[in-house]
Amino acid sequence: MDKKKLSVNRRNFVKGSATVASGVMLGGLPFESRANSAANDKLKIALVGCGGRGTGAAVQALTVKEDVELVAMADAFKDRLDSSYENIVEHVKNKDRVNVQDKNKFVGFDAYKAAIDLADVVILTTPPGFRPEHLEYAINADKHIFCEKPLATDAPGIRKVLKLAEVAKQKKLNIVVGLQRHYQTVYRELMKRVHGGEIGQITSTQVYWNGGGVWVHPKQQGWTEMEYQMRNWYYFNWLCGDHIVEQHIHNLDVSNWAVQNHPVIAQGMGGREVRTAKEYGEIFDHHYVEFKYADGTVMNSQCRHIRGCFNKVAEEITGTKGRVDSTGTLYDLKGNIVWKHRNVDDPDPYQQEHDELFASIVSGGVINDLENGANSTMTSIMGRMATYSGVEIHWEDALNSDIKLVPDSFSWDANPPVLPDNEGFYAIPVPGVTKVI
Ligand SMILES: NC(=O)c1ccc[n+]([C@@H]2O[C@H](COP(=O)([O-])OP(=O)(O)OC[C@H]3O[C@@H](n4cnc5c(N)ncnc54)[C@H](O)[C@@H]3O)[C@@H](O)[C@H]2O)c1
Repeated sequence: MDKKKLSVNRRNFVKGSATVASGVMLGGLPFESRANSAANDKLKIALVGCGGRGTGAAVQALTVKEDVELVAMADAFKDRLDSSYENIVEHVKNKDRVNVQDKNKFVGFDAYKAAIDLADVVILTTPPGFRPEHLEYAINADKHIFCEKPLATDAPGIRKVLKLAEVAKQKKLNIVVGLQRHYQTVYRELMKRVHGGEIGQITSTQVYWNGGGVWVHPKQQGWTEMEYQMRNWYYFNWLCGDHIVEQHIHNLDVSNWAVQNHPVIAQGMGGREVRTAKEYGEIFDHHYVEFKYADGTVMNSQCRHIRGCFNKVAEEITGTKGRVDSTGTLYDLKGNIVWKHRNVDDPDPYQQEHDELFASIVSGGVINDLENGANSTMTSIMGRMATYSGVEIHWEDALNSDIKLVPDSFSWDANPPVLPDNEGFYAIPVPGVTKVI
């Protein structure tokens, strides 16, 4: 971005800016809407977290119609950054939009800072344990953001993100969170009908992420415990939050979207039946949770990572006049189909997220998905608290919990917050015994 224009925009912004009362300070001055920028101003993008999703998100950001270029990349590991760079170059149509000089490829725990400093828009796609810290740095530095879900793995992280959501609002930053169903036509059409009263008052929701599970990276010779947990992050709660948080958040979020609130109570059960080997760290392989909303609506939630079982990734919303399901179908109380979404030629929601983000930045609009993302992440953390403890969990207690999974600082020689026993196994939560609040 043109430096002169940036300083003019900043000066304009100062007139109306003030210190935020939320406790998170405004750290610098944001550039204003880009509505008046010259057409040849390029929006500079930095990618933080160069794995599968980050690589895809970078390609999508580089596919938007606005003038953009990728200028910086950061990852904890050099091999991940290098392969991501190669993949981006291979898959991006406009290759001249990839302009990452070697000196702007940053590696390590602190790499994110240097990359974010170079950008107007940042893509935050590390494991979710780092999200609050990376969001804080990016928002304090006045960056527009695409960040993946979940937004934290523990309640202190969520509280930080909720404060940052307010700061971002005041700074008029654009922040899209990768709960892509919000950018998917079929869900938008469904919610229009649900919120328009076509199924009457919602009485219950059913949400599912039952599948076979994801990758696993067993420990290699020469890896420290920290390197092992970072590479096999899915199975450690400080990094991942368990699959009820990492994956099932999508379905819990749809229920919250339909009800237009978050649940207030949860109780449930879960455990690990088949994934008991040491490389599966400390997470469960199945959870069932009954959530209740303040108006009495019940959400039945199930998620499972076990092969050879009934698989279903979907949501259903039932009301007093009918129900909808996520195939895009609305039924009356007798089961007759009242409406069906065509599901033809809908835009790719992953691309749509970036199309809307960049269009909003350039037109001076504001998208801020952070608060919703934080509440849906907290819903999933509350579910985990319920299955790990076996007791009823109340929203306020869960949100105010001081149990912190993520350390304050990171280093390759430090021990991670959980350690294996002499045989390489990790402590597994025991319902009825484990304390979560
Ligand atoms: N919305 C979706 O459909 C969707 C799909 C897949 C993943 N995701 C989300 O995207 C995020 C990343 O998932 P993924 O599948 O790409 O994982 P991944 O392991 O492929 O990529 C994560 C990358 O982050 C790097 N990293 C870890 N800690 C870092 C740090 N402190 N600083 C910089 N880099 C760091 C890792 O080395 C790795 O390259 C997760 O939050 C996941 O939930 C969302």
